[in-house]
Amino acid sequence: MEIHVQSGRLTQIKGKICIIGYFEGDGAKGVIATLNRALGGKIRDTASAEGFKGKFLETLLLRSEGKIGFERLMLVGLGKKNALTEDRLRQSVGKGAAAVQKLGLPATSIYCDTKYLGKEAAERISQIMIEGLILSLYQFDQLKTKKTGQNKIKTCTLVIENTKNTTAVETGSQRGKIISEGVCFARDLCSLPSNIVTPTYLADQAANIAEADHMSVEILDRDTIQSLGMGAYYAVTQGSDEPPKFIVLNYQGAPQGKKKRPIALVGKSVTFDTGGISLKPSENMEQMKYDMSGGAIVLGVMKIIAQLKPPINLVAIMPATDNMPSGKAVHPGDVVTALSGKTIEIVNTDAEGRLCLADALTYATRFKPSAIIDLATLTGACVIALGQHAMGMMGNQARLISKVQVAGAAVGERTWELPLWEDYYKQIESDAADLRNVGGRPAGTITAGLFLKQFVDDIPWVHLDIAGTSWYNDGRHPYVPKGASGIGVRLLVQFLMNEASRNKR
Ligand code: BES
Ligand code: MN
Ligand code: ZN
Repeated sequence: MEIHVQSGRLTQIKGKICIIGYFEGDGAKGVIATLNRALGGKIRDTASAEGFKGKFLETLLLRSEGKIGFERLMLVGLGKKNALTEDRLRQSVGKGAAAVQKLGLPATSIYCDTKYLGKEAAERISQIMIEGLILSLYQFDQLKTKKTGQNKIKTCTLVIENTKNTTAVETGSQRGKIISEGVCFARDLCSLPSNIVTPTYLADQAANIAEADHMSVEILDRDTIQSLGMGAYYAVTQGSDEPPKFIVLNYQGAPQGKKKRPIALVGKSVTFDTGGISLKPSENMEQMKYDMSGGAIVLGVMKIIAQLKPPINLVAIMPATDNMPSGKAVHPGDVVTALSGKTIEIVNTDAEGRLCLADALTYATRFKPSAIIDLATLTGACVIALGQHAMGMMGNQARLISKVQVAGAAVGERTWELPLWEDYYKQIESDAADLRNVGGRPAGTITAGLFLKQFVDDIPWVHLDIAGTSWYNDGRHPYVPKGASGIGVRLLVQFLMNEASRNKR
């Protein structure tokens, strides 16, 4: 997407179409009133003829018949003024942009009202608008020989009426572009099937990202995984002919001389989950191509960080592998020794995510991070508990849990905390080893989280179960189309930028 910023009077700027927000019950005010006057009352008349009131996500398309510079206007309802939130704005722009794209137009303008805003607020709303635009227009069609035929919007111009905020709007919209394109990159990785997105493919993507300044990558192969003693992760990899890759991306953005402990991000990267010997039923098994969503999100974040370059240190860890049944596959009942030294009875080979993460988390602790955040499509139980509307969140430190919750809420990506009470621990005790990898049906998301907790020592840690939020089965959300959502990328970027600004102070 090419983004421009243009200042001038909204009635005079020329173009094919402009998306304009419309507050419910506020039609007679501000820029809408000016446009209505210039159009000889047409906005008021059409709105009342068609029952358009500016309710949240309502749209109204108007032709200007040469009375103003834009040929058409796409009015989008913002709902009641006092109910407007940043995410509602993002959703409204998404809705308007999708409606413009349906018209087959290759370019659009969006009116960005920054008249009464300071620099920071102007940056923020232009960022949000571009996010709504790019996130809603995303389509996964790279594997179709005939594209959908729809003309895609390739250019967007943010229109501002004053010049004082030009720089702020330019900065904000570029940031919005970087962030939402990072989300779309993560979506692509989740949507691409496992014959394309192999562990090697993920490693190649990580190596690409590592070309940026302050980034470096390390990729461990099967032999190294085994010789380092990552027995839990190795057990998952052993049934597959596809080579596993333990991917470590390092970003050193903190000012030189300041020894700053890194933040560690860990993403479950099971490129296909058949369940292994505890084979899944074939119905819907094809969906298990997105069992690497955690890794995709972490890679999306690193791609964004490589461009935003915040002054922090970061380490991203992705234990990538397929989970396959074969003559070499791990058997139910096998006992393995994790990198931490703990022994695990693998009662169910389909609970593979926590095995990969156990060793990835132990590996993360060796960087002495100030915080660890892991993301994983870990449990079907989380889909049952929360559906697609919130990530399941667990952790061992209230302060970090709260920071993650706040970052998510700020960008419209919700988390919901589940308790990691020790009462649940009995469920993952084993007769044969230190731990068993399944805790039975009750509280399946929590016992998985509690299992992970055994591998983070005392380092502040948050686990996000994204099984429900990673894939949208319907396309009714204004900026999350059907399919891979990329949810989690913007939460982490917001969290990291919050941490970076804390460092500066
Ligand atoms: N990848 C799955 C979890 C999953 C299910 C993600 C549905 C997305 C949608 C995970 O590896 C798994 O199989 N979990 C098992 C654990 C069980 C064996 C304790 C599950 O949830 O059934
Ligand atoms: Mn599984
Ligand atoms: Zn899985």
